[in-house]
Formats: sequence, structure tokens, C-alpha cells
Amino acid sequence: MDGIVYMAYLLAAVFFVLSLKGLSAHESAQQGNYYGIAGMAIAVLATIASDAVTGYFMLIVAVGVGGFIGMQKAKSVEMTEMPQLVALLHSFVGMAAILISWSGYIDPAASELTGAELTIHLVEIYLGIFIGSVTFTGSLVAWGKLNGQISGSPLILPFRHGMNAIAILVCLWMMTYFASNPHTALSTFMLMLMTVIALALGLHLVAAIGGADMPVVVSMLNSYSGWAAAATGFMLGNDLLIVVGALVGSSGAILSYIMCQGMNRSFISVIMGGFGTDSAKAPVASGDQGEATEVSAEDVADDLKTAKSVIIVPGFGMAVAKAQQVVKELTETLQKNGCTVRFGIHPVAGRLPGHMNVLLAEADVPYDIVLEMDEINDDFPETDMVLVIGANDTVNPDALERPDSPIAGMPVLKVWESKQVIVLKRSLASGYAGVENPLFFKENTRMLFGDAKDSVQKVLKNL
Ligand code: TAP
Repeated sequence: MDGIVYMAYLLAAVFFVLSLKGLSAHESAQQGNYYGIAGMAIAVLATIASDAVTGYFMLIVAVGVGGFIGMQKAKSVEMTEMPQLVALLHSFVGMAAILISWSGYIDPAASELTGAELTIHLVEIYLGIFIGSVTFTGSLVAWGKLNGQISGSPLILPFRHGMNAIAILVCLWMMTYFASNPHTALSTFMLMLMTVIALALGLHLVAAIGGADMPVVVSMLNSYSGWAAAATGFMLGNDLLIVVGALVGSSGAILSYIMCQGMNRSFISVIMGGFGTDSAKAPVASGDQGEATEVSAEDVADDLKTAKSVIIVPGFGMAVAKAQQVVKELTETLQKNGCTVRFGIHPVAGRLPGHMNVLLAEADVPYDIVLEMDEINDDFPETDMVLVIGANDTVNPDALERPDSPIAGMPVLKVWESKQVIVLKRSLASGYAGVENPLFFKENTRMLFGDAKDSVQKVLKNL
């Protein structure tokens, strides 16, 4: 039986790798999802069939209840609530790692281990609980911040880097004692103490991070949850869990790195939890900006009739307004008029990686006109009109022009370099980072106020 289970695990691991590869491009993302589903189905069935599993009744109840809740949640979740759901799910992985590692510690079968095997087992338990605890509380704080339960502004305690460093050093020192003095009262106490410290560390690391930097945190926690799963896999001797944990851990880390580059932040400072403290300065104003110029849907439509090239820059507001379908209709109408229409997508537009790409794909916007920021950023000067639909921080010139801005250094779409910019949003309110946007007051910018979907519909009617 073992041989068949190992073969199934190998097959599942191959499916997971194919899944990640598929998910890396729009065209193959659906295929990637199918590979992932197939891999997970094989993994679960093989694990159930293995000799390690005996409590079938409990298993069926747990899978049934968990599967039902998951299905309901997946059906009901709004696209805009996705990041907080992902953060909450990471907390479950952290909690699972804590529970499994603690039960591995109290498991009587483990006491038969001796020598190096016992030491390795204890280190695996210790690391599983440590990473799991940081992931658990860190993810809960991220969920609270994204869901609005906790304030998005960073918690800056004095000497916080020092406190984090001391917490990690104390935990490391206790690990050496714990691993070399198996199952004494003191080592059990140390395991408990480390659990509490790691839970507090997770809270503190994420609480110190400002709202605008949350995307990177969610992806870092994704990575942590993968490493927690890998540590659990080592403890249980489950090869597939190690492989899957490592895939999640490293892909989460790579995504965090790419996002850090997208926001011009340092990866190391994220790991240290010292990330995004500049957002403490938010909200800030850029001084007296003058008056923003309002425009009507009729005038926008008139200008669009003569425009030869248009770039649409969507942001979080397009998701809130659920405007993707009408935006697609607008695109088709403009194309029929002989206008070249393309989309410019900022890497952190919206509230989760790939948010805009998912919405546009849902509305069947062809992939070849949806371009990443780097691909389109030099084309604005030759563009007649830019429609900024519900985007704000990702088109804020202050990021490039004001070194003291909380979002200074974040690469942005240079929409203001085009001949004219129309911004579709409900007011002059700030975006996620809470900073004012001088784009709204530029000479070549006009504001089309209102819900993005209504505004696009009005423009369409007038075209
Ligand atoms: P934001 O800067 O968040 O601005 C969105 C704008 O949409 C708001 O200013 C809002 O202005 C407008 N809006 C809201 N509802 C609307 C509606 N129904 N119709 C029209 N407009 C509406 O958006 P962005 O440019 O996409 O930037 C994303 C921000 O989120 C960045 O700061 C990023 O760091 C952060 N973030 C990103 C992620 C990821 S991974 N993408 C995750 C978490 C956070 P009004 O209220 O005036 O309408």
C-alpha cells in the first residue's frame, strides 16, 4: 500500500507544480486551477487510503462540515472581500500547524524515538508551533485590518525592532534547551512559553505594518503558512505535505518579492516586520491644490469620439462599482470607432494580486490589450485620452515627485503625461493609502464624479 500512496503523492506533487505554472499566465490560469484540484483530490484520497488514517468517521464528519462551510463561503464572498478571506484561511493553516505539532509532542508513540531522531522530531515540533503561531495571529490581524475591524494605521511601539529580535533570540535559545532535554517539565514549559511569545510576535509584526502595505503582508503570510505546513510535513513524515508546503512557502515569498519591487520597498524590512512604517504619516495632504475641474458624461463622450488612442486604468473603485462589464462594452464601442484601446494595470491595483486582471477576464476583455505597468508606462505621452476608473494611489504623481509622501518611491502609472485624463470616481476622497492625489488638480485632468458603473453607462449612452 505504501508504494501506491507514494506514487500518488508524486503524481499529486507534479500536478501542483503544473498548477503553479498554469496560474502564472492569464491564458492558462483556468487549466492551472484544474491541475490544482486534481492534485488535491489525489492527495486527499491517497492520504485517506494510507495506513496512517484509521478514524474514518471523524474524517468524514470533518471533511463534510469543512467542505460545506468552504463551499458556502466561496459562493458568497465578494471579489472585494477576497484578501481578508485569504488572510483568514492562512490563519487556519497556522492553527492547524500549532495543533498538529502540539499533538505530535504529546503523542506517546513519539517517545519511542531516541538519539538524533528524537532531537530532529523535537526541532520539527518546535518550528511547526513557532511558525504556525506567528502565522495564526499575524493572519488574524491582517484579516482584522483588511476587514476594517482593526485600524489600518501601524502600531509603532518604542524599541519594537529590538523587542522582535529579543523574542526571536529567546525562542531560539529555548529551542536548543527543548531539543536537548526531551520531555522534562521545564522543556514542556518552554514550549508553552514559546507558543505564547510566537503568538505575540505574530500580532506585533503585522500590527506594525501600515494599511497601504497590507498586500505584501498577505502574501508574506501566505509564504509563512506554506513553511508552517512544510514543518508539519517533516514532523508527520509526510513527503507530500513537505513538497506542497515548500511550493506555497516559496511561491508566496517570490510573490512578496515581486510586489515589493512593484511598490519599491525592501523585502528584508518586510520579513523584519519593520515594513510600511512610513504610512504612519498618512493621511497627508499635498498642500493647496487649487480647484479640480468637473466634466459631464456628454463631454467625455464627445472627446472619446475623436480620440485615436485611449488607455483605461482601472483600480479598486471599478471593483466596488462592478463596472467591468460596461467598461468592456465601452472598449468595444470605441474600437468600432477605430480607436486603439488598451488597459494599464498596476501590480497592486485593487485589493489583491491580479485583482484587475481577474475582473477584466471575467468580463471577457481580450488579454492582448491588457498590459502591465512596465509594458505601457512609456506610452502615455502618445495617448490622446486616459480613463482612470476608480484608481487613485496607483496613479498618484506624488509617489514620484514628493520624497516625503508616504507612498514615495512606489512606481505608478504616469497617466498625467497623456494629452488628457478623465478620472471617474465619486469624490475627491483619498484611496487606500489615505494620501491626497494632485493628479485631480492637474491642468489636463477632469473629474467625472459618480459611481464608476453609472458614469461609464452614461458615457456609453452618449457615444
Ligand atoms: P485606491 O487608491 O484604493 O482608490 C480607489 C478609489 O476608488 C477611491 O479613491 C474611491 O474614491 C474610488 N471608488 C470607490 N468606490 C467607487 C465607485 N463605486 N465608483 C467609482 N469610484 C469608486 O485604488 P487603487 O489605485 O487601485 O490602489 C490600490 C491601493 O490598495 C494601493 O494603495 C495598494 O497598495 C492597496 N492595496 C492593494 C492590494 C493589492 S495586492 N492589489 C491589497 C491591499 C491594499 P471615491 O470614494 O471618491 O469614489
